[in-house]
Amino acid sequence: MTPEVQQRVQQLRQKLQAASYAYYVLDNPIMEDTVYDRLYRELQDLESQYPQLITPESPTQRVGEKPSSQFTSVKHNIPLYSLENAFNLEELTKWQERWERGLITGDREQAFTSAKEYVCELKIDGSALALTYENGVFVRGVTRGDGVTGEDITPNVKTIRSIPLKLHLDNPPPLVEVRGEAFLSLAVFDAINQERAENNEQLFANPRNAASGTLRQLDPRIVAQRRLDFFAYTLHLPELGTGENNLAFSLPKTQWECLELLQTMGFKVNPNRKLCPSLREVEEYYQIWDTQRQNLPYMTDGVVVKLNSLSLQESLGFTQKFPRWAVALKYAAEEVPTIVESVTVQVGRTGALTPVAELKPVQLAGTTVSRATLHNRDRVSELDLHIGDTVIVRKAGEIIPEVVRVLPELRPNHAKLFEMPSHCPECGEPVVRPTGEAVTRCINTSCPAILKGSLIHFCSREALDINGVGEKLVQQMVETGLVHSVADLYDLTVEKLCQLERRGEKSAKKLVKAIEESKKQPWARVLYGLGIRHVGNVNAQLLTQRFANVKELMSASAAIIEGVYGIGPEIAQSVYQWFQVPANQSLIERLQGAGLTFNEEGREKKTEGELFPFAGKTFVITGTLPTLKRDEAKELIQKYGGKVTNSVSAKTDYLVVGEDAGSKLDKAQSLGVALLSESQLLEMIDGT
Ligand code: IVH
Repeated sequence: MTPEVQQRVQQLRQKLQAASYAYYVLDNPIMEDTVYDRLYRELQDLESQYPQLITPESPTQRVGEKPSSQFTSVKHNIPLYSLENAFNLEELTKWQERWERGLITGDREQAFTSAKEYVCELKIDGSALALTYENGVFVRGVTRGDGVTGEDITPNVKTIRSIPLKLHLDNPPPLVEVRGEAFLSLAVFDAINQERAENNEQLFANPRNAASGTLRQLDPRIVAQRRLDFFAYTLHLPELGTGENNLAFSLPKTQWECLELLQTMGFKVNPNRKLCPSLREVEEYYQIWDTQRQNLPYMTDGVVVKLNSLSLQESLGFTQKFPRWAVALKYAAEEVPTIVESVTVQVGRTGALTPVAELKPVQLAGTTVSRATLHNRDRVSELDLHIGDTVIVRKAGEIIPEVVRVLPELRPNHAKLFEMPSHCPECGEPVVRPTGEAVTRCINTSCPAILKGSLIHFCSREALDINGVGEKLVQQMVETGLVHSVADLYDLTVEKLCQLERRGEKSAKKLVKAIEESKKQPWARVLYGLGIRHVGNVNAQLLTQRFANVKELMSASAAIIEGVYGIGPEIAQSVYQWFQVPANQSLIERLQGAGLTFNEEGREKKTEGELFPFAGKTFVITGTLPTLKRDEAKELIQKYGGKVTNSVSAKTDYLVVGEDAGSKLDKAQSLGVALLSESQLLEMIDGT
């Protein structure tokens, strides 16, 4: 390895790290995605060529690890305390009186001279994490657990892009402990629940449950897809005495300074903090954020009030459970009663029927709510919902509120039990209720509701990004029979569009142009736009990275698709089956005919043999390989079409041999089985 390589690796890391910080922490991108991807791939390539150059803080190490079978318990160096709650000003004042009393007892007079101001922070509704940095490098991430012992979830924490893997400090202290809140934005939370609803999985009740559930996911690749975020709020510098330190910063004396220092270190710190000289300002902050928080992209359920002075904090200390120097001033639970006037049933693009309660409008969490989801058939029967019932609705973060429970004692005499329809409300065809699933589904492929949903999805911003195709236009196009499939979009002309009611020539021209433009959208977006179950934009990216064109993907077996990094068996089945349906095959043909992009530019089409060089071959692995773990080698072989078995026989084509190979090597030699070293194995793949 030349010094140039080392230098380049370092340079790439710096550039990638700066770009990722600008994007995820500062929310101010400085690099094109494509440039980022190119540099990232270059770094990945260099690191696989020279694995000895890999360091734990390299940007490639964020999603590098395999699923674990369980997490290990770790005792926190400093316990993660919880917070005492206050629900109104009276309780807040009592808290102030308590800590002031706490100060004047004992020998705490000295601390009493410190300024008694407060820092107000938003209480983020997520899951607390303790992060450890040794000599500036991230080494461990642990959940709160019971506050004394948590679970080591380091590989998952590494996937959170707003957490630095290396502190932005020139001369970092030997040990830095950071605490903060891992959370999901409301948009991501909604998307996760929507996907879970489609897959008949139990929904997360709120973003907090979703965040802690995600953090405890055993597969870091799934965690990475869930896009967790993190706000830091506590800083501990345990191994620093008060003496001389050769540090690039001065030791913080207040919580405010800690927050600023955390920001300097590269963390995302919530910008909506405020220094308050007295409880009057605290109250003002609390009131302002009660309405303002509706506009935040994440959920907050209160305000955390902390004494600013660290020396005051120290003198006050902790009770069994709480710090005496902080309190959570909570907002009232966002649940209100209202009356169900009727229930409508919506049909989504997957054909799933969703019952929706139409409500007597009511104020909830700052907005007027007149509809609430009832999720599915099982939920409806659990609730025993009658039309006319008084129900409790809740906005747990999701944009569409939900019905939490029914108050049967308030049920009027005439109330009628709601039952899911036996026929699709959109097309009138009988619906199906797959056994063991909560979902009720319309399976009529020409159901207009499914078509409308597919069109909206196809044109959406993350898919083909055809601006101007909204609910209304889709409704018109489907109802007048102008469009029967997404492929029909490409046959639209200005004349045809102008025949629609209230569609002028100008907007028609614009639309035709936008449709034309969409032909340039990359293959990953087209794949996503097809609306195959389980193929969101992340999975579409993964699939198109592996399959350079649609033909390769269409001819792959479910097992081959499953071999793609990050693609599980359920997704693979869904993709495989989708492409087996003749109607879908002709859709692809039509879209290809229309000129949409179904291959990745610059990547040559590959033949079957090139794609799956190991097809039909059986491998056995023995001994310790120099860089690949056993499972990794196995995955790699399978990905390229090969089969891996445990014992050598006459049917074995290759034995991959590592150090300390045992009897398998002897047997292979006696049978004349071809031997491969790890590098020979990799070469066989690279040659493709
Ligand atoms: S300070 C000893 N600050 O709220 C200090 N906590 O109900 C304890 N939380 O477990 C935490 N935002 O998970 C603090 N700005 C913030 C917070 C915050 C959210 C969470 C944290 C804690 C829980 C207590």
